[in-house]
Amino acid sequence: MISRNDPCWCGSGKKWKKCHFPQKHHPQDSLRNEYLKQYGIILKNEEQIAGIKQACKLAASILKKTCAMAKKGVTTEELDAYAHKLHKEANAIPAPLGYGSPPYPKSICTSLNDEICHGIPGDIPLKEGDILNIDVSCILDGYFGDCSAMVCIGKISSEKENTVNVAKECLNRSIAILKPGVLLCEIGDVIEDYAAEHGCSVVNQFVGHGVGLQFHEPPQVPHHRNDLKIPLAAGMTFTIEPMINAGVVEGYIDEENHWTAYTKDGKPSAQWEHTLLITDSGCEILTK
Ligand code: MF3
Ligand code: CO
Repeated sequence: MISRNDPCWCGSGKKWKKCHFPQKHHPQDSLRNEYLKQYGIILKNEEQIAGIKQACKLAASILKKTCAMAKKGVTTEELDAYAHKLHKEANAIPAPLGYGSPPYPKSICTSLNDEICHGIPGDIPLKEGDILNIDVSCILDGYFGDCSAMVCIGKISSEKENTVNVAKECLNRSIAILKPGVLLCEIGDVIEDYAAEHGCSVVNQFVGHGVGLQFHEPPQVPHHRNDLKIPLAAGMTFTIEPMINAGVVEGYIDEENHWTAYTKDGKPSAQWEHTLLITDSGCEILTK
């Protein structure tokens, strides 16, 4: 009888186990193993996708309601308390609360004006001319969903308006190319090209990320130009969350809270985020 290490019967010269040895697994299983082994990426199965969809739907609904409450005179702490209550009512947990080191102190991120990301809700009321990113990440039944959006308070400067619109367009344009086989680095190409054409810079200090079974999973999803030649595959779930600066790309982190990132030149920054699922034919936006 032929054994696993014998030359294959087909004459290829390869070992039987490396050639025509019968595969006992479903072809999808070998892709799953390959992505896990090569990239640490978990391709999600139907049951996991169903759970992630529920978490994403909730995150999107909490984000929408919280954005609707963001008006002149309201504090970001009030927005945080409201979002926290919405999580509780849905039997969900706000993923940021207690996350990381030092533990993130609030339930959502609220990043104002020159804050790139990870702004911490506080007691200063929103005022005319502010731009605010609200970032909601929730855990529902053990699954994670993550999204963010911008709110403009009253009349804003044309520089802020451009930054907000460019960030949104960068997200939409990068989503439009997603399908199996597209390389992860093509996302950064689309975003970097569009931002540069419109006089903005793309933050490279923070990236999008795999999400679903954990808050942050492989792969990292850079929004800037990069070299990650990982082909997208059906079952991948990850965020795209471009942070776009009106001025220089450089930022710095708050020395007191160790979280909030600001632009170095004090110019505005904007961000929009969705959680995406790669499907056989393209992609699905899960946080719509
Ligand atoms: N969407 C943001 C991210 O993935 C949410 C950050 S929450 C925080 O980084 F707790 F990490 F601040
Ligand atoms: Co995120």
